[in-house]
Amino acid sequence: MGNDVSETGSFSEKLRVPEALTFDDVLLRPMESRVEPDAADVSTRVSRSVSLNIPIISAAMDTVTEGEMGIGMAREGGLGVLHRNMDIEQMVAEIERVKRADELVIRREDVVTAHPTQTVREVDEMMERKGVSGAPVVDDTDTVLGIISGTDIRPYLEVGESDAVREAMTDEVITAQRTVGARGALELMYDHKIERVPIVDGDEHLVGLVTMQGILQRREHENATRDDTGRLRVGAAVGPFETERAAAADDAGADILFIDCAHAHNLDVLESAREIKTSVDADVVVGNIGTREAAKVAVEFADGVKVGIGPGSICTTRVVSGAGMPQISAVAEVADVAAPAGVPVIADGGIRYSGDAIKAIAAGADVVMLGSYFAGTDEAPGRVITMNGKKYKQYRGMGSVGAMKSGGGERYLKDSEEDEEFVPEGVEAATPYKGTLSSELHQLVGGMRSGMGYVGAETIPEFKTRSEFVRVSSAGQTEGHPHDVMITDEAPNYSPNN
Ligand code: XMP
Repeated sequence: MGNDVSETGSFSEKLRVPEALTFDDVLLRPMESRVEPDAADVSTRVSRSVSLNIPIISAAMDTVTEGEMGIGMAREGGLGVLHRNMDIEQMVAEIERVKRADELVIRREDVVTAHPTQTVREVDEMMERKGVSGAPVVDDTDTVLGIISGTDIRPYLEVGESDAVREAMTDEVITAQRTVGARGALELMYDHKIERVPIVDGDEHLVGLVTMQGILQRREHENATRDDTGRLRVGAAVGPFETERAAAADDAGADILFIDCAHAHNLDVLESAREIKTSVDADVVVGNIGTREAAKVAVEFADGVKVGIGPGSICTTRVVSGAGMPQISAVAEVADVAAPAGVPVIADGGIRYSGDAIKAIAAGADVVMLGSYFAGTDEAPGRVITMNGKKYKQYRGMGSVGAMKSGGGERYLKDSEEDEEFVPEGVEAATPYKGTLSSELHQLVGGMRSGMGYVGAETIPEFKTRSEFVRVSSAGQTEGHPHDVMITDEAPNYSPNN
């Protein structure tokens, strides 16, 4: 937008400004449809090589996404983006936690094993402590000799508590090789009426374990976002200059690195992000940006772009810095450039209702990122607090004083070690406790599907091209919310305070 004073000779020219719109300024125009919401396909792409089954990811914030949220989001078909307000070792541990959560083969180091010379009582106590109901029995060379489970040590089998495990174990143990696969393991379990199969190498050394419980758990999450080897996918936030963190997260198996910066149209940030991209296997998403000019540079190398300059619920960027872009216009500007380049667009921040999320998709986003929507769920870090009889969880901006003091804030270009007096761009808050992530996602995805039904689009790409907006007046906004009534019962997907 060229309104340079040197060209026009007039400051007042600057006031001939383009209009930028946000969620409440627009509505989807209802259109002819045969699409039932349940039939809408909400799968999408979040980066060049990663697809999701729902178009939703959780924010890289220390009150939103750690391993538990990462597991929950991926199991539901979305993706969690781990925050970076933790040291590199911790981040690696959280990435591994997600990647291992639904692994078919439990790795050797995580398998609880018994030794033949231990007593039955010792092993019984150990299994109780570790929360398992059976354990492979291995000797000092890790060779599998048998398997011991609750049934082997029940008193009616006349095994004394002080007898050795070798007396009580089942020694005709059924093992399999690493290549067994879920179906093969299940067949073995059904044929031999067993619940666990130790995985061994060619010399009968234990290398892992497959359990019936693990296989059934994976079946419960058929919609999960998985990598090529069946592990859950996970994203990790890295600072634009954190090459060490980027390398460690990539090595640990993160599927996407999210370059985490409040203003990625900073040329130093883009240069460094470009270098990170050349040195990792993971996809690299660059953000945040909010204009077509920024998008032009980012799509040259990025696998995805993330949009949002100040729309977030806990953000004060716009009031503190005077800069920002209303989110619907920002998404549309970026998508104008990114879509033809085949680069997915993520709309990050400001989403309060499912209607906002589907409007962001209509404006050109492929995926939405949410913070406050998920911060009150069980899967978010932090405990539930009670104030005036109501339950809440903490939710704070990554540019808030609290987050900066505990190591964050680099995103907001503050050197927290040298500058003790922060200039925050976010606030610390509490958000109502909401229960499980899965029920929140059910409402969110259900509402988005409903939007697709009103527009008559079966898929996200079709919805993006077919949908149209109408502009809403402030009277129209008032009309769109419950009005002239007193709400008596809370709805699961609407709160007037959002
Ligand atoms: P919502 O609205 O979903 O927004 O809660 C989450 C997004 O807000 C961004 N974020 C911040 N923006 N100051 C800001 O200006 C902050 O302190 C801050 N912390 C998070 C971020 O993009 C997140 O995904």
